[in-house]
Amino acid sequence: MTDSQRILITGAGRRLGKVLAQHYLDNGWQVLAHFNSACELAHHAALKTVQADLSDPGAVGRMCEWLVQQGPVNAVIHNASCFIADADAADLARHYEQHQRVHVTAPARITAALSDQWAEGAAMISISDIYADIPNQRFAAYCASKAGLQNWSLSMAQRLKGRVRVNVIQPGPVQFLPQHDAAYRERVLSQSLTGRELGYGAIVQACDYLLSAEAVCGTVMRVDGGRFVANRYDQTFSD
Ligand SMILES: NC(=O)c1ccc[n+]([C@@H]2O[C@H](COP(=O)([O-])OP(=O)(O)OC[C@H]3O[C@@H](n4cnc5c(N)ncnc54)[C@H](OP(=O)(O)O)[C@@H]3O)[C@@H](O)[C@H]2O)c1
Repeated sequence: MTDSQRILITGAGRRLGKVLAQHYLDNGWQVLAHFNSACELAHHAALKTVQADLSDPGAVGRMCEWLVQQGPVNAVIHNASCFIADADAADLARHYEQHQRVHVTAPARITAALSDQWAEGAAMISISDIYADIPNQRFAAYCASKAGLQNWSLSMAQRLKGRVRVNVIQPGPVQFLPQHDAAYRERVLSQSLTGRELGYGAIVQACDYLLSAEAVCGTVMRVDGGRFVANRYDQTFSD
């Protein structure tokens, strides 16, 4: 990695996106950090921020106009995500549209806007979820739109062949929240094969790998401590 490289990370205001942005700043990258409600990143000479609600087509359009002013891009991580249970949606049509816009339409428009800006050897990563491949009736809009993000990303691997390597990361549950009690943590960890909380570092490590692995393109990489496999086993053989 050289200090001339530029990366766009969506949803970089907090949590995983913020950790990724700080990691690439610490490693000498110029970071274009998209955020929605608030950006917790500290001022940095190599950091530029852009606010956009990715469920708002007008805001995505303004973000795309801003992006084309920023020069060549070596890497993009589509990380922004909304995660709302279907039962919590007041308006089901709006709920599904919101997930589709944030997880599929916005990444598609952002990627199209960058079409003349990809630097030599560029790479793009979409952060999906193991639940893109595991139905979950409580979060059906989330799962369906993450599956859409995944499939769209692999189409982009085809469309951008020879210019941009596109890959997908499917995290399992990454980091417990303060409200997760001991029983919940124990249950989740018992459903993984490694039996350990992944932590944001696991996803950072996977992004580093995919950004540098020149032979890897069109791959869906699970970074879940084996939870997908554990899930499959439980669903097949448990009582
Ligand atoms: N955390 C996990 O255990 C886990 C497990 C599997 C997959 N993942 C995936 O890993 C990624 C990062 O996880 P995370 O827990 O850090 O995600 P998160 O906090 O749920 O969301 C990531 C970012 O997306 C932004 N966002 C939400 N709605 C948006 C909108 N309408 N427009 C623009 N940005 C919006 C959020 O900003 P605001 O808060 O400002 O809205 C936030 O900064 C996500 O893609 C997630 O689906 C996470």
